[in-house]
Parts: sequence; structure tokens; C-alpha cells
Amino acid sequence: MLEVKAIDVYYGASHVLQGVSLTVRAGEVVVLLGRNGAGKTTTFRAVMGLTPARRGDINFSGKAITHLPPHSIVRAGLGLAPSGRRLFGALTVAENLALAERSDGPWTRKRVLALFPKLAELAPRRATFLSGGEQQMLKIARALLSQPHILLLDEPTEGLAPVVVRELGGWLRGIRDEGLAILMAEQNAHFALALADRGYVMEKGRILREGTASELLTAPELATHLALGSRQRLAKNNGMA
Ligand SMILES: Nc1ncnc2c1ncn2[C@@H]1O[C@H](COP(=O)(O)OP(=O)(O)OP(=O)(O)O)[C@@H](O)[C@H]1O
Ligand SMILES: [Mg+2]
Repeated sequence: MLEVKAIDVYYGASHVLQGVSLTVRAGEVVVLLGRNGAGKTTTFRAVMGLTPARRGDINFSGKAITHLPPHSIVRAGLGLAPSGRRLFGALTVAENLALAERSDGPWTRKRVLALFPKLAELAPRRATFLSGGEQQMLKIARALLSQPHILLLDEPTEGLAPVVVRELGGWLRGIRDEGLAILMAEQNAHFALALADRGYVMEKGRILREGTASELLTAPELATHLALGSRQRLAKNNGMA
């Protein structure tokens, strides 16, 4: 379904991704693991056409999307829920949803609100006042309303309390059970591997290892990634990084 083949991505002269390859098949949940600065967000930006690859190919459903503009990539069926606070904060929840909505697919506003009933209650609230978990819901809801065949989730657990992380796991299982493919970037390997079929470990702009979720859980290099990831995460959540 999604095939990333040996892409090289630069920010100016800085050569950030070096020969990154990965695949996501229809209905699969795939995780991209890696520490801060490994290149996860850059991979997503390249797939979505936001920072196009300088070398290599990206195919989706058999068609080359490598050099398409972002709006055409969204129309081709790729939906991104970006990391951080990438919402239109001055707009209400309802306005954020209306802006993202495309009517030519199965994800109607009604269906998305059935998945996230809380968003219906929050409809008149400005996005800037939402909690971390509510923002995550809104980002996923917006991505679904663009009628994707694959959902790219960049660090969905970032900044969420453990109880909200568990809730997020439930939402994502629901979305997966609808048959949507998911590519997720995460530092929280335990969370991601509990959900994923397969995964990749990234380091310094390269894929270090790939395997099934159970292979990766027992991979020796993941022990350091897991430990480091959770330490960085703690520091981030405590406002220290
Ligand atoms: N706009 C930019 N200009 C120059 N360098 C950048 C830019 N954005 C990211 N980088 C660099 O590219 C590398 C990969 O960054 P990227 O954001 O892809 O990592 P990441 O794996 O998503 O990290 P995190 O877990 O912290 O989100 C890092 O060295 C980063 O400093
Ligand atoms: Mg990132």
C-alpha cells in the first residue's frame, strides 16, 4: 500500500534521511521507533510532500507520490495527525472539524463524533483551550475527516497522562478495526508495540532494524531505546527537555 524506497531528505545542506525504506500494507499497523532527532517526523514530512525527498521513491497504492504537492497526497488517501500543537487554536473544535471535512468518503462528521463523543460536547470551545488528550482526539478526528486509507500519527502519546494513553490505545484499536492502515511514530515503544503488527527502529536518519512487534520487543538494541525513550519522555513531561 505505502512503499517508501531508499529516500534521502535534506533540510538545506543538512542530509537528514539517508536511504530510508519502509512499507505499510493494507490494514496494517506499523510503528516507527526512535529517539529525539532520529528522523521520524522528517520521514512523515517526506511522505506527505511537506519536505519532499531528494532521492528515492514513495508509492501509494501503486502510484508515485514522491513529487506531488501535499494537498494531492491528502487526496490520494494519506491523512496526517501531526505532532505538537498543530491545530488552528483560534478556531473552535467545530470549525477545526469543518475545515478538514471532505464528504466523498466513509468518515462522516457523525461517524467521527460517534468515535469521539467528547468532541461533540467540546464543539464550541476554542482549540487552544483543549487538554492534551482532547487535542490528540481533535487531530485524529481531523485526519479521519480527510477520508484517508492510511493514517500517519506522529507521536500520539506525547504529553499525555498514562490514563489518557490507555484511552488513546482504545481509540486506535477502534480505527484499526475499521480496516484503516496506521503508520505511527512513537518514543513510547511499549505503547506502540502493543498495538502494532510490525515496526522499524530508526537512528540518525537510517533504519537500524525492522521486525514484527514481538521480535522488536525482545530486540537487544531496543532495550537501550526503550530506556532512553522513557527517560527523555519523563524529562519532556517534566518540562526539562
Ligand atoms: N526544519 C529543520 N531544519 C533543519 N534541521 C531540521 C529541521 N527539522 C528537523 N531537523 C533536524 O533533522 C533531524 C531529524 O529530526 P526529526 O524531527 O525528523 O526527528 P524525530 O525523530 O521526529 O524526533 P522527535 O522524537 O524529537 O520528534 C534532527 O537532527 C533535527 O534537528
Ligand atoms: Mg518528531
